[in-house]
Amino acid sequence: MTPSFAERLIAWHASHGRHDLPWQVSDPYRVWLSEIMLQQTQVTTVLSYYARFLERFPDVAALAAAPQDDVLALWSGLGYYSRARNLHAAARMVMERFGGTFPRDPAALAELPGIGRSTAAAVAAFSFAVRTPILDGNVKRVLTRWAGIDGFPGERAVEQRLWRLAAELLPADAAAMPAYTQAQMDLGATVCTPRKPACMACPLADDCAARREGRQHELPTPKPK
Ligand code: ADE
Repeated sequence: MTPSFAERLIAWHASHGRHDLPWQVSDPYRVWLSEIMLQQTQVTTVLSYYARFLERFPDVAALAAAPQDDVLALWSGLGYYSRARNLHAAARMVMERFGGTFPRDPAALAELPGIGRSTAAAVAAFSFAVRTPILDGNVKRVLTRWAGIDGFPGERAVEQRLWRLAAELLPADAAAMPAYTQAQMDLGATVCTPRKPACMACPLADDCAARREGRQHELPTPKPK
């Protein structure tokens, strides 16, 4: 029998994914910090900022205690400064509301400033192996192509369908969640790319609807004008 969607992604990740990134740890503070930095910035740029940031703010208590200007100074050059302001506010909220311990529940994480539903799920999956789906831009592309889902993914009904599908495709074993979550991000970033996807290298090609129908470049459906 063909291995499942999740099994194929996890096997692909074991041989083709990145395993050397400094945020591939179970400390939710480090995972959260990396996910916020990676939201709008490339991995190569993030690496040096991430190291400097952790040196100055090794844990959430240190970040919460710092003056906002110090946080912004360390963020300088990364852009999208609302990320830094939200980061600081979220650190203070983790101290005040949760006694300095990050919650495991993705819904609770999503209440922190600057953490949307997918980022909250990524933090929960990476740090705590919570069995919860992510749905960032990369995953939307992978899923719309693989399942042949038409309609702009920013539309409510389409997005809800994608969340449902993402939940159905989760690996049975929660222990696989960190690898599975990273695998989806990496597949979208390196194989199932917006233009010229590398379908020959894709572990999901055998039953990919877009590939079968030659519609890789039509999906995901662009935003209606
Ligand atoms: N972009 C957002 N999260 C990421 C991660 N964990 N690894 C690589 N790129 C990412």
